[in-house]
Amino acid sequence: MRIEDLTLDEKLTLLCGRDNWTTETCGGKVPEVRVSDGPHGLRCVVSVENGREITADATAMPSLSVVANGWNKRAAYEQGGTIADDCVDHNVDVLLAPGVNIKKTPLCGRNFEYFSEDPYLAGTLAGQYIEGVQSRGVGACLKHFCANNVESDRSWQSSEVDERTLNEIYLKPFEIALGAKPWTVMCAYNPINGVYASENKKLLTHVLRDKFGFDGLVMSDWWAVHNGYKAVRAGLNLRMPHDDENFAVLKEAYEKGYLTDEQINESVSRVLALAEKADRSEKSGKTSKEQRHLNAVKIAEEGIVLLKNEGGILPAAGKKIAVSGVFAGAPAIGGGGSSTVQTAYKIPHLADAISSITGEKVERSMGVCENVFVTAKLAYSQAYNADLCVVVVGDGTAKVSEGCDRDTLKLRPEQENFIIELSKYNKNIVVVIESGSAVDVSAFEPYAKAIIFAGFAGEGVNEALARIITGRVCPSGKLAETFPYALEDTYMGNYTGDGLTVDYGEGVFVGYRYYERYGIAVRYPFGFGLSYAKFEYSDLKIEKTGDTDFVVFYTVKNVSKVDGKEVSQVYVRDIIAMVARPVKELKGYSKDLIKAGEEKRVSVKLDFSSFAYYSVSLDKWLVENGDFEILVGSSSRDVKLSGKVRIELPDDEQPSQI
Ligand code: GLC
Repeated sequence: MRIEDLTLDEKLTLLCGRDNWTTETCGGKVPEVRVSDGPHGLRCVVSVENGREITADATAMPSLSVVANGWNKRAAYEQGGTIADDCVDHNVDVLLAPGVNIKKTPLCGRNFEYFSEDPYLAGTLAGQYIEGVQSRGVGACLKHFCANNVESDRSWQSSEVDERTLNEIYLKPFEIALGAKPWTVMCAYNPINGVYASENKKLLTHVLRDKFGFDGLVMSDWWAVHNGYKAVRAGLNLRMPHDDENFAVLKEAYEKGYLTDEQINESVSRVLALAEKADRSEKSGKTSKEQRHLNAVKIAEEGIVLLKNEGGILPAAGKKIAVSGVFAGAPAIGGGGSSTVQTAYKIPHLADAISSITGEKVERSMGVCENVFVTAKLAYSQAYNADLCVVVVGDGTAKVSEGCDRDTLKLRPEQENFIIELSKYNKNIVVVIESGSAVDVSAFEPYAKAIIFAGFAGEGVNEALARIITGRVCPSGKLAETFPYALEDTYMGNYTGDGLTVDYGEGVFVGYRYYERYGIAVRYPFGFGLSYAKFEYSDLKIEKTGDTDFVVFYTVKNVSKVDGKEVSQVYVRDIIAMVARPVKELKGYSKDLIKAGEEKRVSVKLDFSSFAYYSVSLDKWLVENGDFEILVGSSSRDVKLSGKVRIELPDDEQPSQI
C-alpha cells in the first residue's frame, strides 16, 4: 500500500490503533498487525467475557530478572525464541517485550520484569532476547522508553534525570539492545524532565532516531498518550490502545495547522512499514510445546542463585528431606500485571520433583500460608525427623506487580518467624526465596544453613530447584542486582517519588556503582553467586588491537570434582578522570561450562564504549587519555586478576586535563 493511495482520514485512523491488540486495516487496504504481551510468555487475549480478557494458555518462562541472573546470552536468546514460538501458534506479529529499564531501587514493583542495575548486562541480554524473538519472524518491542524506574504514580511522576546519567545509565541499555534491530519501541508512561515520554521529541526523535538510528515503529504504552497530536509531532507513530477521541483530536489539529502532512506521513509510513513487514514475515516456530517447557526449566536452572551454603549442606544427595511452605506447592512463578502468563502446565510440588530424582519419599507441609500457620506442628515434626528441611518463602503477585512498588525489602514477618521456628527442630535449614527483586534476609539469615534465590522462575521452577538441591545440576546463577543489608543502605531508601517528581540525584552511581563509591557494605554483591564447583583464575593477558580496542585473555580452572559453569566478569576502572566516575563498571562477561579438573582460556573484547563516559560539556562520548585498570572477577567484589592499560588519543580531541 502506498501512502499516496490513502485518504487523510485513512491515514489518521492508522495512527490510532483499532482495539487493544490490533492496528487499523482501512477496510483491508493495510495488513493487520496483532501485538501481545509479554516478556515471560505469551499473554494473548482470545476473547472478552463480561469485560474480562480471556487469554490463551502459553509456556510460563522465567522472569527477565531470572534470565539476567543467568548471565547466559544463549539462554536469553532461547527465552525470546521460545515465547515467539507461542506467538507463531497464535498468529501474533509483535511480542511486547523485552523491558530493559534499570533497577534504580530494589523497591520498584516491576524489577522482576527487568534485567539488571547495570546497563551493559541489561542491554546485551536484551539484544539476545530480541534476536531470539525475531528469529521466528515475530517482531520484538523494546520498552519502556525511558527512565521508567518506579511504578508509583508512573503516569505523572517526572523522572528528573541529568544528561550524563540519562546517557550512561538509562538510555544505554536501549542503545545497546537496538543493535538487534527490534521492529518496535514502546514509550513509557512517565514524563522525563517535565515532558511526557509520549510527547518527548528530544528522546523519541533526536535520541532514538537521529542518535541511535532506530528505524522501526514507536508505539505508546497503553494509555500513555495525553495529547494525540503532540505525540505525533514528537515522533510517536502509533497510539495504543485505540482511543475513540483520538481521530477527532488529530483531525482538528490538522485543520488548525497544528499537525502537518509531513508529520502525519512520517508516522503513517512507519505503521505501513510495520504492517508490510509483519505481513511478509515468514513466521516459523522451532520448538514443540514439550520443548518449550524444557527450555523453561533449563533457563530457570541458569538463573537460580545459590547465596549461602554453609558447611556444603547442598547438594542434599542421599539425605532425608522435608519440604515446607506454601510456595513449594504453588510457586510464585511470575509477578502481577501485564507480564502474567496463564500456563496449562501442572507444576509438580517441589517435594515430588525432588522425590522423582532421588526415589526417596519427601515429606511436605504448608507451614505458613498468607499470614497464618496452617500446618505448624506437622512442619515442625517433619523437620525434626529429616536430615534437611527446605522451606520456600517469598513475595507472590499480591505484593510484587506492575503498577505498584514494594514498601519494604523484607518478607512477611510470619514467613521470617516460620524459618526461625523451624530451625529449632532442624539446624539444616535451606531457604528458597521466590521474590521479584532484592530481599533483606537479615531476620532469618543466621538460621539458614543455605539460601537459594529463585526469583520468579516460571513453570519450570520446581524441576529446576529439585535438580539443583539434589546436585543433578550445579548452580551457576549470579546476581544481576545488589542485595543490600537493608533498605536504609540504598540511595533512595523508601523514597519512590514525591507524587510529582522522582529524583535521580545519585546520578550515574546506581546499584553497585553507588555502594562502591561510598564504601557501603552489602549483603550479596552484584555478580555474586555460589557454586558446588570451585574455580581459580590465572594468566591474565591484555592485547591492544587499536587506540581503544583490547582483548582480555584469562584462564579459569575448575579445581573441584564437579562439572560447573562459571560467570567471569570484566570491569574497567578509569584511574584519573576529569569527572566523577564509578570505581568500576562492567564491560564484559562470559559464562563457560568447565568440567571438573579442566580449564578454559576465556577472551573478552573491549572497545571505545568500554572506556568512555558521556561528556555533557562536549555533548558526546569521550575517552580521556590516561591509565585504566582492567579487573577480572567472579563478582563485582571478588576481583581475581587485574592489569593496566594506557590510552593515548590525539591531544587535539582531548579537553585539557588537570
Ligand atoms: C502495560 C505495560 C506494558 C504492556 C502494555 C500492554 O501497562 O506497561 O509493558 O506491554 O501495557 O499490556
